[in-house]
Amino acid sequence: MLMKIAVFGDIHGNIEALKSAYQAALSVKAETMYHLGDLGGYSPFVNEVVGFLIEHGIEGVQGNYDETVAHDREHCGCKYEDPIQEEMANKSFEWTKKHASPETKEYLGKLPFSISFIAEGKKILLFHATPSKNNLYWYADRPDKFFREMAEKTDADVMIYGHTHKPYRKDFGGKVFVNAGSVGKPKDGDPRACVALITIAADKMNVEFLRVPYDVQKAVEAIIASGLPGYFADKLKEAR
Ligand SMILES: [Fe+2]
Repeated sequence: MLMKIAVFGDIHGNIEALKSAYQAALSVKAETMYHLGDLGGYSPFVNEVVGFLIEHGIEGVQGNYDETVAHDREHCGCKYEDPIQEEMANKSFEWTKKHASPETKEYLGKLPFSISFIAEGKKILLFHATPSKNNLYWYADRPDKFFREMAEKTDADVMIYGHTHKPYRKDFGGKVFVNAGSVGKPKDGDPRACVALITIAADKMNVEFLRVPYDVQKAVEAIIASGLPGYFADKLKEAR
């Protein structure tokens, strides 16, 4: 038996990217699909993204952005590398809190912190960033000690998460760590949507990162038309 799981990380209001990612998951015959939260911000379609996920029965976990938008917090729980990025991020956060509908906020607020299930005898655990915090950046180059500490927080065999927008797979200590990358705002230099496709069999596990072309120009124009900073349109094209 095989199980194919498609995972959509960090969609961030980019409905064009999500639609294409979903079609790609269908075309490779994924049996189940999940999202990893951070459904709004940077692109304008948070309500449409939530509507699409509900319509297609795609369950998922709560990201830092979802939690903070749902509760109208002061800060999104994001980290900044420079003052311009901070200023732009604040604009995006204010825009998203203002435009997310009450129904959207209710959905975001009710998302679970994590989801676990068994596939082919393996324990799978999905969360946004780490097993205990939704806003810590778990990059591939974290030392092995960090991977060990995170693994000790759970009894999962496979951990699937996002938040950094940079995909990777790492096998360590008998466990598999998968960062699913980002559907709607990749930061690894490749502007195509990223979908993690995890194929699990009793004796092995395969992880692929599908890169899905979509109409980036349409997404860029929608950012500009929405009143969000053009800064995010540039970032989307550059995948930075
Ligand atoms: Fe995040």
